Amino acid sequence: MSEFLSDSDFERFRTLIYDESGIHFSESNRTILESRLKERLRAAKLETVGAYYDHVKRNQEELKVLLDAVTTNLTRFFRNAAHWQTFENYVVPQIVERRKAGSDRTVRIWSAGCSTGEEPYTIAMELLELLPTGFKFEILASDLSLKSLMVGQQGYYPDTRINGIPDRFLAKYFDRKDAGYQVKDSVKQYIKFDYHNLKNDSGKRNLDVVFCRNVLIYFDEPAQKAVIDRFWDAMGPTSYLFIGHSESLFGMETQFKFLKTDWACIYGKGVTS
Ligand SMILES: C[S@@+](CC[C@H](N)C(=O)[O-])C[C@H]1O[C@@H](n2cnc3c(N)ncnc32)[C@H](O)[C@@H]1O
Repeated sequence: MSEFLSDSDFERFRTLIYDESGIHFSESNRTILESRLKERLRAAKLETVGAYYDHVKRNQEELKVLLDAVTTNLTRFFRNAAHWQTFENYVVPQIVERRKAGSDRTVRIWSAGCSTGEEPYTIAMELLELLPTGFKFEILASDLSLKSLMVGQQGYYPDTRINGIPDRFLAKYFDRKDAGYQVKDSVKQYIKFDYHNLKNDSGKRNLDVVFCRNVLIYFDEPAQKAVIDRFWDAMGPTSYLFIGHSESLFGMETQFKFLKTDWACIYGKGVTS
């Protein structure tokens, strides 16, 4: 047992974090929690884990900072090529086909757990390439990590983070700046970055596509199911859900239909083929 974090303090913090975010800390992740708590104690100039717990309970802002500190924000542009092939060859063509006869030609997408923005910017670049004239789109990009949202909002990525962006996209949608690349306003204008904790209802309705990739993996089953049920409510009558390639709704009681496309497996609501 660690001297810094007793069993009972570990239990208190992991319950608090779970209740507030759905993020589940197993015994094997205990050292990660411990090191993040050490950082927060130093920053808050507090001596003991118990004093820090009381501080967090009294202070909503510190709770947000703690939740931010315990998240894993790893992401990259065009992550999981098979998903983007599915988006290009299956999802977008189906949406366009269905919409082109009607009057609503706005495609609404949510990147839930968007981290530092690489995912929503990838979506925006894809849609700028794929949607025919007369179509519009809106992307909501949300996360509970305020630090990550700020990076996304800024849209500046150093050279080390632009891997995966095809050269022609880099030339068309970014400006070279210092030792990195700045996303052009012509792309940024489509994305609204917002703080949102997936524990709560987003209030969103009628979305065409939800991306929630590599987020559910940090939740336990009841928290995953609650999030998936909320996605169902937020999505339109015919819509698509992308989760991470190592995540699955297998065994979960849900109305989402498993869609095995030629490129990747995704989930559908009201999708017949
Ligand atoms: C590993 S990143 C995934 C980023 C991106 N979706 C991708 O696949 O590349 C996971 C993100 O989920 C966010 N997250 C974790 N729990 C959350 C919650 N309860 N509400 C909102 N975002 C959450 C984290 O802050 C983190 O930025």
